[in-house]
Amino acid sequence: MQTHLRGRDLITLQEWSKGEIETLLDVAFQLKRERAMGVPHPILRDKVLAMLFFYSSTRTRASFEAGMAQLGGHAQFIESKTTQIAHGDTAKEIGEILGRYNDGIAIRQVDWRGGNAYMREVAEASRVPVLNMQCDIYHPHQALADLMTIIEKRGDPRGATVTVSWAYAASYQKPISVPQSLVLLLPRFGLNVRLVHPPEFKLMPEIMEQARDNARQAGVTLEVIEEFDEGLRDTDVVYAKSWGALLTTEDESEGMRIIDRYKHWITDERRMELADRDAIYMHPLPADRNVEVTDAVIDGPQSVVYDQAENRLHGQKAVMALTMS
Ligand code: CP
Repeated sequence: MQTHLRGRDLITLQEWSKGEIETLLDVAFQLKRERAMGVPHPILRDKVLAMLFFYSSTRTRASFEAGMAQLGGHAQFIESKTTQIAHGDTAKEIGEILGRYNDGIAIRQVDWRGGNAYMREVAEASRVPVLNMQCDIYHPHQALADLMTIIEKRGDPRGATVTVSWAYAASYQKPISVPQSLVLLLPRFGLNVRLVHPPEFKLMPEIMEQARDNARQAGVTLEVIEEFDEGLRDTDVVYAKSWGALLTTEDESEGMRIIDRYKHWITDERRMELADRDAIYMHPLPADRNVEVTDAVIDGPQSVVYDQAENRLHGQKAVMALTMS
């Protein structure tokens, strides 16, 4: 167990060792047990987290805010419409100033080819940890909750197969941060990963290279498959969500035209039957119901989406307790 994590930024779990992530998981499960038993844990009494949102959120905002309150501290909600964070305040100023008011700075900034760079600039100027609530490249707190959920449902995750698949959604070109964080993290914990998507929905080449290295070092497989049904056969975990064709086109209309070619990529009961009979269904939410996934699957017995959403709270509390205490 590696316990000296005070002051650490969490921008991507790729920058944390496996031992450090194991510490996060241990603490997250402990805090989850304590909350179930009504044991208070005011580890961050008098501490304040600034939460900067350049984009909307339900789960991330609610779970960070609830988590800070449960740890005895406070979270400030700072969003771009009613403040000057999106026009006027520079990243350096935000890091300097909010770092002096607060004990941590959490940021959601998913601008394509801008969000992660912004976060790094804030972190450079800040004297307190910067926590990534989703950028254009990574969504580390989602991936941490997902790994927790797989461990809860399966026990030892080693040797299991996870299908991380693209699925159709009509709304907009969603970020690629969730699949990228999953293909990086899961192989490190002994999971074989199948990344499944139509050819236009590739992930960033440098992320794929790191993910392949992680898989090689862990002795597991990372396959890329372009056919949905094939990617689901006998898998243990079905994790299917939409993302944008951002590596193919940065034009929103062109991206939507490409997405519309794959309307049949929906997770339905027939597809779930291709997976192992004990397979679980995962989605970070929000899902486009009956477009991306049918009600029968997301509300069905194999779905673990609510446990997955709950684990955002426990995982993030572990991160905050260890980095901000
Ligand atoms: N999964 C997730 O990040 O949800 P929100 O966008 O609602 O925060």
